[in-house]
Amino acid sequence: MTIETVVPRCAVRSLRKRYGGVQALDDVSIAFLPGEVHAILGENGAGKSTLMKILAGAESTDEGFVEIDGQEVRQASVKEANANGIAIVFQELSLYPDLDVLANLFANREPHRVGAVDRRAMARIAVPVLDELGLHTALDTPVEELALHDRQLLEIAKALITDVKVLILDEPTSSLSANETERLLGVIRTLRDRGVTTILVSHRLEEVSAIADRVTVLRDGRFVRTVPMAETTMTELVTDMIGRPPEDIPDLAHDEAVPVAGRGLRIRGISTARGLDAVDLEARPGEILGLAGLEDAGVQQLMHVVFGLVRPTAGEVEYPDGRGLPATARHAVRRRIALVPADRRRDGLMLEDSVEVNVSSVKAGVLGGYGFRLARRAMQSGAVDSMSSLKVKFGSLGNPVRNLSGGNQQKIVLAKWLQIDPAVVLLDDPTRGVDLGAKLEIYEVIRALAARGCTVLFSSSELDEYRHLCRRVVVFRRGRVTSLLEGDDVTQHRVLHAMNV
Ligand SMILES: Nc1ncnc2c1ncn2[C@@H]1O[C@H](COP(=O)(O)OP(=O)(O)OP(=O)(O)O)[C@@H](O)[C@H]1O
Ligand SMILES: [Mg+2]
Repeated sequence: MTIETVVPRCAVRSLRKRYGGVQALDDVSIAFLPGEVHAILGENGAGKSTLMKILAGAESTDEGFVEIDGQEVRQASVKEANANGIAIVFQELSLYPDLDVLANLFANREPHRVGAVDRRAMARIAVPVLDELGLHTALDTPVEELALHDRQLLEIAKALITDVKVLILDEPTSSLSANETERLLGVIRTLRDRGVTTILVSHRLEEVSAIADRVTVLRDGRFVRTVPMAETTMTELVTDMIGRPPEDIPDLAHDEAVPVAGRGLRIRGISTARGLDAVDLEARPGEILGLAGLEDAGVQQLMHVVFGLVRPTAGEVEYPDGRGLPATARHAVRRRIALVPADRRRDGLMLEDSVEVNVSSVKAGVLGGYGFRLARRAMQSGAVDSMSSLKVKFGSLGNPVRNLSGGNQQKIVLAKWLQIDPAVVLLDDPTRGVDLGAKLEIYEVIRALAARGCTVLFSSSELDEYRHLCRRVVVFRRGRVTSLLEGDDVTQHRVLHAMNV
């Protein structure tokens, strides 16, 4: 039987979707076969999430339709799509932070027992699914207390407890560690064996090539092609995505360091109540120092200390301005210390506010309470400058940030700090969910900051990134610094090894 004779499990036919001036999807048709893993690739803003939302009943279409098992269907909500066997894990997490793990898993669909919600019955269904995903947490933990990667796993668990025929995963691994990603890929393989169709959106090409049977590329809202994974190469796929052959990413690890005058960051004996144990390190002015470690190894905690969010129980930090720890994050901002947090939606953005307000917010903070009103003009032009250096696609300045694609939201978090000429920049996974082209742009921006004398601490869940940016990488384990990699030793393999041993 050839592919053409199989009735697709689901399909989209001639989809068109427009948002204001943006044609998010333009005549897109794709068939998804029973039991295949089908990856969707494309740059930030290519229309991937829009397509997924339409398939899952979360968004309407202007033209075209969705088909399931050869029949056209109308799905006015996620609930209706669920009833058709389609479940989605959104790119941006949609959990209720104040409810606990179990309540979130069954939100809007609790099994009832004479009026009362039956938590025991829910737990019986939930536990095997959580085990399979390796999410080890008490069922009554409030979701707001979970780390980002655990929330991401919980979203996936939520999709899996329903009886799915089609599972849509929109960048499910963007905050998962290598081990968690492996486990998720294992779960996807099991589902494939059961005949479930998985549609996977990811910017991580390695995992796409490891798991996908077929892949479809979108560019600027248009369908480029669908191809079996075995019949194409990474270079071809990237060329399809960006419309030209990819450039090599230069490594910085092997370059000679150019000394920059001034003071950097000196961290001495920092300990915290939750995690850090006598951490010493020094980052020079103009240096991009890598910080690597597994989840909870202490990298994020150290960044929070330096930004004034967490009070250490012991130790001192000396900053480029010669002063010690900032009393609060607000003080940190005034002293030109910047933090790009891993969880942009929770810590980095005001989603309902416009692009302009978001990009200008830090500068307004630096200028004080009246800053925003007084310097509006100047800030507007500054906002446009810092966004154009990152090539942010944002529609208009008044557009709420919520409407931007995931990768463009990430760029906004970075863009707002560019306006204050920071002295210290803390980057916690700054390229999460960002496409390859945009990554190169972000690398350029980080290097330019360092060349101006800024001290940068950089951490990434994609270990390959260190060698593009860092000459030195400090490795953390269980709250302590356990090794330092330099120059030729800054490789994906060495970093991974040092994190685990
Ligand atoms: N609700 C909305 N209102 C206005 N514009 C929107 C809305 N949703 C999406 N867009 C725009 O449609 C385009 C496609 O967005 P989409 O989220 O589908 O991109 P994507 O391929 O998922 O990108 P990313 O890789 O960054 O997540 C973008 O230009 C985006 O700004
Ligand atoms: Mg998206």
